[in-house]
Amino acid sequence: MIEQKRRYNITTFGCQMNKADSERMAGILENMGFEFTEDPNNANLIVYNTCTIRDNAEQKVYSYLGRQAKRKQNEPDLTLVVAGCVAQQEGEMLLRRVPELDLVMGPQHANRLDSLLDQVFAGNQVVATEPIHIYEDITKPRRESNVSAWVNIIYGCNERCSYCVVPSVRGVEQSRTPESIKAEIEDIARQGFKEVTLLGQNIDAYGRDLPGTTETGRHLHTLTDLLYYIHDVEGIDRIRFATSHPRYFTERLIKACHELPKVCEHFHIPFQSGDNEILKAMKRGYTHERYRDIISKIRHYMPHASISADAIVGFPGETEEQFQNTLNLVDDIGFDQLNTAAYSPRPNTPAALWDNQISEEEKSDRLQRLNHLVGVKAAERSQRYLNRVEQVLVEDINPKDTTQVVGRTDGNRLTFFKGDLTELKGKIVPVKITEVRPFSLTGEMLSLVTA
Ligand code: SAH
Ligand code: SF4
Ligand code: F3S
Repeated sequence: MIEQKRRYNITTFGCQMNKADSERMAGILENMGFEFTEDPNNANLIVYNTCTIRDNAEQKVYSYLGRQAKRKQNEPDLTLVVAGCVAQQEGEMLLRRVPELDLVMGPQHANRLDSLLDQVFAGNQVVATEPIHIYEDITKPRRESNVSAWVNIIYGCNERCSYCVVPSVRGVEQSRTPESIKAEIEDIARQGFKEVTLLGQNIDAYGRDLPGTTETGRHLHTLTDLLYYIHDVEGIDRIRFATSHPRYFTERLIKACHELPKVCEHFHIPFQSGDNEILKAMKRGYTHERYRDIISKIRHYMPHASISADAIVGFPGETEEQFQNTLNLVDDIGFDQLNTAAYSPRPNTPAALWDNQISEEEKSDRLQRLNHLVGVKAAERSQRYLNRVEQVLVEDINPKDTTQVVGRTDGNRLTFFKGDLTELKGKIVPVKITEVRPFSLTGEMLSLVTA
């Protein structure tokens, strides 16, 4: 089918799910005989794996695309692919807007990239956005890191948060079987990876769509059961998971994380707003009291656990007082990290149509105030690391100081220290923390523990 070595480049926008999809698509392309090139301008096949969570994410894609579409006018052999969430949202419209495109494919079609490209190379312009049953991918992903790997365990989302575009672009929840997840993790371990992060938009929903219930009526396969099931894969030292939804977060899960030594004490549980009225309008299905309760339970079992979250400011109708409730929650909990965003109206979402939108000025003012508090609290949280010995999994060199390596603590804090990457990569080493910043640490290695 392909006569000569062709070069590909993938640019990825958006969340870890998209990054994991890109790694699988890269694996498929290499299997087809394509070679990776860093420089998109040197590639004859370009994939944009896109995100549409907020308007600015979507607009970025169009500016990138414009440049390559122009290039294609002189290089008709250039193959242009738009994958991911903008592709799903816009479908045919994208072809009308950018007629130079060869393939528009939604996220559910990532594992089928090869057969879609076959159609393209046969001379067709292809749009693949129909909902499908996601099938197991047999191609090995080309992973960015060789220490830490992402593993999708559930695709899609069945929630209907009133601001969110994800359910309409990612489709309904589809869980992979525990057996195939374990097989992938065993394979990852054989390749020398040390850490896995299990991924899902609403990871607590894992297993709801799989058959079987226990005697007490609980689903047979839950995230908690999965953690026990995969825990002992030899070679894997750390297990993480994201993203948790407060509505479904269970004490059973907290206990499992406490009990299982490889599961990191880091929880990413977005709360979105600290105000009950706003949470109701968002259709989140919990109150700020319930959220606080989850965090205290986590801290009861694991006093050192790191907590991170996402929050939105300027949701339609949010008053100054309601925004203050978000500040209060952030102040009370003290997050290690918080991803913040100004509300952005999205296509096919209820909240976008409401007439009580907040002005852009107000939204950006609130965002600034929230970010300021987040920085102050994160700096406070970092203090607890000072002079402590942390176990750091070494991943790479510090690009800003090549005499240093960088890794992450159990709680996911980036940590820098002097050391030799060839000796330390993939090892977990004890590091005494000597310097703290809001979102990263510096320390000194104590001694090398061989893994
Ligand atoms: N499934 C996760 C989040 C997925 S989207 C959850 O339920 O928490 C990642 C983050 O983007 C969300 O947590 C939210 O904070 C933000 N986000 C989603 N839609 C948004 C919108 N319309 N405007 C601004 N931020 C948004
Ligand atoms: Fe979006 Fe809500 Fe689903 Fe998260 S749980 S992906 S915010 S709809
Ligand atoms: Fe963006 Fe799609 Fe992820 S919209 S945040 S890439 S699920």
